[in-house]
Amino acid sequence: MIKYPYSKPEVTKSDINEVKKVLLGGYLSQGEKIHKFEYELSRYFDSKNAIVCNSGTAALHLIYMALGIGPKAGLLTTPITFLATANAAKMCNASVYFADVDHISGLLTADTIEKSLKKYKNKIKVITLVHLGGKICDLESISKVAKKYNCLIVEDASHAAGAEYYDKGGVSSKVGSNKYSIATAFSFNAIKHVAMGEGGCVSTNNKIIADKIKNLRSHGMLRQKNKLLYKPKEHAPWYYEMQELGWNYRADETSCALGLSQLKRLQRGIFKRRKIARYYFNELKDIDCIILPANIKSINQSVWHLYPLLIDFKKIGISRSHMMKQLLKYGIQTQVHYIPLFMQPYYRNRNFFLFKESIKYYDSTLSIPLYVQLNKKDIIYISSKIKSVINH
Ligand SMILES: Cc1ncc(COP(=O)(O)O)c(C=O)c1O
Repeated sequence: MIKYPYSKPEVTKSDINEVKKVLLGGYLSQGEKIHKFEYELSRYFDSKNAIVCNSGTAALHLIYMALGIGPKAGLLTTPITFLATANAAKMCNASVYFADVDHISGLLTADTIEKSLKKYKNKIKVITLVHLGGKICDLESISKVAKKYNCLIVEDASHAAGAEYYDKGGVSSKVGSNKYSIATAFSFNAIKHVAMGEGGCVSTNNKIIADKIKNLRSHGMLRQKNKLLYKPKEHAPWYYEMQELGWNYRADETSCALGLSQLKRLQRGIFKRRKIARYYFNELKDIDCIILPANIKSINQSVWHLYPLLIDFKKIGISRSHMMKQLLKYGIQTQVHYIPLFMQPYYRNRNFFLFKESIKYYDSTLSIPLYVQLNKKDIIYISSKIKSVINH
């Protein structure tokens, strides 16, 4: 039995009450909750617009569509991410290129991006940065490189709701405020910091992009009089036009009520996650075949969606799958984030030598349980079992 999953949602009584009110209220879709949620998110992220949709994948797809990526305007991103970061670009018929990552953080860097941009020259329009596990990419340096090559930055902050970025001068900005990017995508699926069940959001300060995304989110249906191509002769309150292809990416009211309720606890959740990261650091810091995802000073630089250990499996003399199996016997589930995308048959790029650091990261990473319900006793138990498996 799994006692400690690698991640777990937290649903409170007030979450249930908020959802119940919607269920009893008569509007299950396109009511006021989505507007309230968008308003609160834009305030939270310091962004002019927040557009809620029904998944993080939809958020990415909407951003890529609005930015006009396609066959001649490709995407550069990290291979160490969930499929959706790249798949959403393929949905726009765009070419997807990968840059290598730093083998300790698993993040794209200004250097790895510039190396790829030199190689792929004018093929890239958008660079999507993934704040893996809640750790923030070096936005300041990367944005300089992006500017030099005339590319736009999109942030995939699916793991990083509530995070702040500190520039080299120590000035902070919220992830989602888009200080360095044109738009940011968030996932609010079940195990994210804010859970809607399934859901997501786009934040952007650009009104043209925001309007386009709102339109594409709902079938491409336009109702604003000044945008219509064919104005009806008589007064026609029912009239709408579809000028381009859109989707149904709208979120329903119950999911938005849950998201709104969870947003209120986001800051508290991050505080708890940092506390757990500190407990792990104290328990695991002295094992020489493990690299921890942060030292005690850098713990506050992540919002801790994941706690990925880097383990030298050769040195400890057991395989990763054996370790996972042994931990499972103690009720501890672990997971690998992620299989590099260039290894997927769909994206298969056989030039693995281009991605040495990504492969190094993949070969050693193992995410151990991290969610707000864990306490110090749990962390001591999980850490002791990790140590006993290592010392087999
Ligand atoms: C980095 C990243 N991007 C995008 C997504 C897609 O989000 P969703 O599952 O809400 O579609 C996920 C989901 O886990 C993710 O981890």
